[in-house]
Amino acid sequence: MANRLVYVLNGPNLNLLGLREPAIYGSDTLDDIAAMLEDRARELGLTIEMRQSNHEGHLIDWLHEAQAEDAAAVLLNAGAFTHTSIALYDAIRAIATPVIEVHLSNPHAREEFRHKSYVGMAARGSIAGFGAKSYLLALEAAAGF
Ligand code: DQA
Repeated sequence: MANRLVYVLNGPNLNLLGLREPAIYGSDTLDDIAAMLEDRARELGLTIEMRQSNHEGHLIDWLHEAQAEDAAAVLLNAGAFTHTSIALYDAIRAIATPVIEVHLSNPHAREEFRHKSYVGMAARGSIAGFGAKSYLLALEAAAGF
């Protein structure tokens, strides 16, 4: 099916990508990642809706919106809300749209407080640790839904 919609939702501090701890998160900005995803999405017959917010409630509203818009999938990098947000866990479970958890870094190889993922407990699957490429790998998975 051509031009299926994929939401790419990014949580707190990801607006600072490229500047923020580049040794961990790399030098690509969120705009660089959006451009990379747009190119690949075009090849896969997908349309990307890329968003970022530092506010938990926005991410929840956008998850609901993804279902209302009949999106094929959501790629969700919830940043630190990944490790704290039961509200995001509930929102992911509340919608039928498949959600893929995405992280640039590998949270399991970092501080212990990052080892728990409420997002991962509700998501269809998770991709982490491959820098910006994590998003591309998640998009490939979404193309198969
Ligand atoms: C992150 C990992 C989280 O633990 C962290 O809080 C982030 C970024 C990642 O993409 O590697 O903000 O989601």
